[in-house]
Order: sequence, then C-alpha cells, then structure tokens
Amino acid sequence: MNDSFLRACRFEKLDATPIWLMRQAGRYLPEYNKTRAKAGSFLQLAKNPQLASEVTLQPIDRYGLDAAILFSDILTIPDAMGLGLSFEQGEGPRFKNPLRTEKSIKDLRVPDMNQLRYVFDAVSQIRKDLMQNGKQRVPLIGFSGSPWTLACYMVEGAGSKDFLDTKTMLYKRPDLIKQILDINIQSVTEYLRLQIESGAQAVMLFDTWGGLLSSSDYLEYSLAPMKEVIRRLQEDRVIKDQVPILLFSKGGAIWLTEMAKSGANVLGLDWTISLTRAREQLGNHKISIQGNLDPITLLGDQKIIKKKVAELFNELALTKSICPELSPLDGHIFNLGHGISQFTPPENVECLIQAIRVESKRHREANL
Ligand code: CP3
Repeated sequence: MNDSFLRACRFEKLDATPIWLMRQAGRYLPEYNKTRAKAGSFLQLAKNPQLASEVTLQPIDRYGLDAAILFSDILTIPDAMGLGLSFEQGEGPRFKNPLRTEKSIKDLRVPDMNQLRYVFDAVSQIRKDLMQNGKQRVPLIGFSGSPWTLACYMVEGAGSKDFLDTKTMLYKRPDLIKQILDINIQSVTEYLRLQIESGAQAVMLFDTWGGLLSSSDYLEYSLAPMKEVIRRLQEDRVIKDQVPILLFSKGGAIWLTEMAKSGANVLGLDWTISLTRAREQLGNHKISIQGNLDPITLLGDQKIIKKKVAELFNELALTKSICPELSPLDGHIFNLGHGISQFTPPENVECLIQAIRVESKRHREANL
C-alpha cells in the first residue's frame, strides 16, 4: 500500500509529502455529478454503499491522491437521531425537527447504529474497491462531525453564518447545550468505533464551527468534548497504536497548543496561520500537521497556485531546527484549509498536485 499518509500521521520519515483534499469527491468533478445524477440526490448517493464507493475512488483515479476519504456527510448522525435531514438544491442542509424545545433535548438519544449501517457498509465496500492486484492502493479515512459542530446544526436546523440560535442557547441555557454535547460525545465515539471496525484506517473530527466561540467557550464546548471522544476511542489499545486521529477546528489556530494535548495525532489547519508559526507553537511536540492552502486559490491563476504552494513549503522549511533528525517536511500532510469549492476547475487541481510533488522533491533533495 502507498502508506505515506499513515506514516505522516505517525511523524515518520517520508520520501514525499502525502496529499489529499477535503471534499475531494464533489461537484467540481464531472464524474461525481454523473454518479450523483444516477443516484438521484446527494443523500441517496451517500446512502448507497456501491455508489458512495464509486465517488470515493474518483479523485484517487483522476489525481493519484495519497488517501481516500469515506464519501458521506457529518449530518448522518443527527439524521439517524430522527431530526429529518434534507438537502434543498443549492441551499445546503436542513432539518425538519431541529432542537428548539427543552423537551426535544430531554428526549434526544444516541441513535441506533443500525440506522447508520449504510455508512459502515460503504466503508467496507470502499476497502474492497481500493484493492488492486492484491494490494490496497491508499489508506481510507473515516470521519465524523465534532460534538459541538453537530450541535450547531441540530439546534439551528440549517447552516448559518453565525449560528445565532445555538450561541443564544449557549448563553441562556448552557445546561441544555451540555446535554446535547453529552449525547453527541457518545454517538460520535460509537460511530467512529464502528467505522474503524468496518475498515477505516484513520479517523478525522471535523469541527467546522469551533472557531465561532470565544476562547474559554472553545475549550469547554468544542475542544473538551472532542478530547473525550478521543480518550474513549483510545481506551482501545489497537486504536491507540494503529489508528491515527485527525482533529480539525476551522478558525482554531489560536488554540493549537491546547489542541496538541487532545490526544489527536494530527492537527488540521486552515489558511489563517503560517506553517512556520504553527510548528513554532507546537515546539518539539511530535504532532503532525495537515493543511493549509486557501481552497479559493484553486479558482485563481495557475502561476499564483504554484507560487502559493512554493510559499507553503518555504514556511515549513524554515522549521528545520525543530526536529533536526527529520526533514522539516516530515509530519506534514498537504491539504486545503477547508473543503474544495464546487467552482474549482479540475485542471487547477492537477496543477496544484504537480506543484506539490515538485516542491516536496526539491526541498527533500536540498536537505539530504
Ligand atoms: O471530504 C470528502 O470528500 C468526504 C465527503 C464529505 C462531505 N461532507 C460530502 C459532501 C465530508 C467529509 C463532509 C463533511 C461535512 N459536511 C462538513 C464538515 C467539513 C466542512 O466542510 O466544514 C460539514 C459542515 C458538512 C455539512 C454539509 N454537507 C453542508 C454544509 C453541505 C452543503 C454545502 C455545499 O457544498 O453545498 C453538505 C453537502 C455535501 N457534503 C456535499 C458533499 C460532496 C455537496 C452536496 C451535493 O453533492 O449536492
């Protein structure tokens, strides 16, 4: 298997920087749109293990990326809790039964994991489909939303710029938010455990909305629940030793030193922090980083895409003194700072990957 992604998660020596892109299977790819049309809708696609596997592999086939990520969504958990998920064309997610009353929160339960069987089936199907000539092509990443980010959608009932209703509840009835988080901690832990059992070789927590919180609230309502999920998962020795956990709080770069103590093996970064500063803050903590090109760069000029990639590698190269026995490029997984935009020209992704391969090689050779 091309295991450069897993090696990077473990901060091992690498010959080349592993690459994958958040939302790598999505609407910017014509082949994705074809399969989605065949399925009928995004949710029908996600709920069909065969087709979900097909789209998971599309960006691997097209670009030779170094990791596959389960094709699904973070909102499968609240859907299985009975909140009634739908996606309106061009409008994003919507819940029929958001958590708007004390009673609905008191009645909230960890979902029956059989309701999520289609996700675990997709994981096993993808593992099968990743096999080629008796070898697995690349590792498979499973994922979940963070307890806080799920709570945001569950209370708000839809996406939002500021999650006003959720934050209002946080400041009016923190006890109710805590009840939701408690159920989400249990649900996310069980969900990820079953993904791992079905074949996920690393798991990522997507905390898209942690960055909406004040510093102390982030630590209490976003980071602490994620830490608890990680602690529970890692009670299992096999998971602790063999299944890397990636944690990504969008807008969370100011809390890197706290995130480093979460038990996660890899920290995802958005584009607001330079990789030099990230490494400086992490000091000699051997924790890997993933990121962090602004995805909108890919809508720009190819010359600027190449320049931005070179900049990113130069930022890393500046951290040479931190781990003298390794290349300053080790412990880094290339990714975008958030999901790829649906308006990305696929040929710009080709250009991006080419540029990363060139810079990764150039810097490694220079460091020999
Ligand atoms: O990374 C991957 O390729 C794996 C698949 C994946 C999807 N969603 C597929 C998807 C992953 C990891 C997610 C996570 C997810 N979903 C997050 C966390 C990461 C982030 O982006 O912040 C969030 C917040 C969601 C919730 C969600 N799902 C929203 C807000 C939307 C609508 C936004 C949009 O782009 O329209 C979705 C839909 C969705 N999830 C799509 C895809 C490919 C587009 C749906 C379509 O095909 O119509």
